[in-house]
Amino acid sequence: MTQIELIEADITTVEVDAIVNAASPMLQGGVGVDGAIHRAAGPELLKECRVVGGCPTGDARITEGYNLPAAHVIHTVGPIWQGGTADEDELLASCYKRCFMLALYDRVTSLAFPAISTGVYGFPKKRAAAIAVDETRLAIKQNKKLKKVLFVSVDDETTSAYRDLLGSDSITVDQV
Ligand code: APR
Repeated sequence: MTQIELIEADITTVEVDAIVNAASPMLQGGVGVDGAIHRAAGPELLKECRVVGGCPTGDARITEGYNLPAAHVIHTVGPIWQGGTADEDELLASCYKRCFMLALYDRVTSLAFPAISTGVYGFPKKRAAAIAVDETRLAIKQNKKLKKVLFVSVDDETTSAYRDLLGSDSITVDQV
């Protein structure tokens, strides 16, 4: 049985096997959650990202977590919202699929996601949350070793979007 939780927290403080980063294709760090993760992990993370080299939109790459409580970071590149006509839904779904696939390969049993693409990349929050929850429900059927999936929110709109979708499946823990 996989536990799904919705938490309000800074993802860099979360103690799980892997946290997911909403990265850019060059994996060079940035603002938002990407900036926070690089700051908390320390400069070794950027060094490893340079070796990895980059990541196409809709795909994911895994690195160590360095100074983070999480052992790994799974970097995924969400789509930039362009009005919904540029395969944004499929690309966002692909981000979640690829993260869950890497989790399976790397024996990650607990995983925390930020709301990928919903900040700088402008993806509508409710629509993104629906994709995140659908893909998670699919993945937990396929990967029986996954013990915990956390959705991490830092704003009320994201929290209520996930809460509506998860209903009684979720336990909300307010950490901020
Ligand atoms: N913990 C959890 N969630 C966070 C944190 C944090 N510390 N900081 C921001 N968020 C939330 C935002 O509020 C938003 O809901 O993460 C979500 C994703 O926002 P962004 O970080 O802006 O990511 P995204 O929209 O995917 O844009 C990615 O931004 O920083 C650049 O390099 C990055 O180019 C890439 C782009």
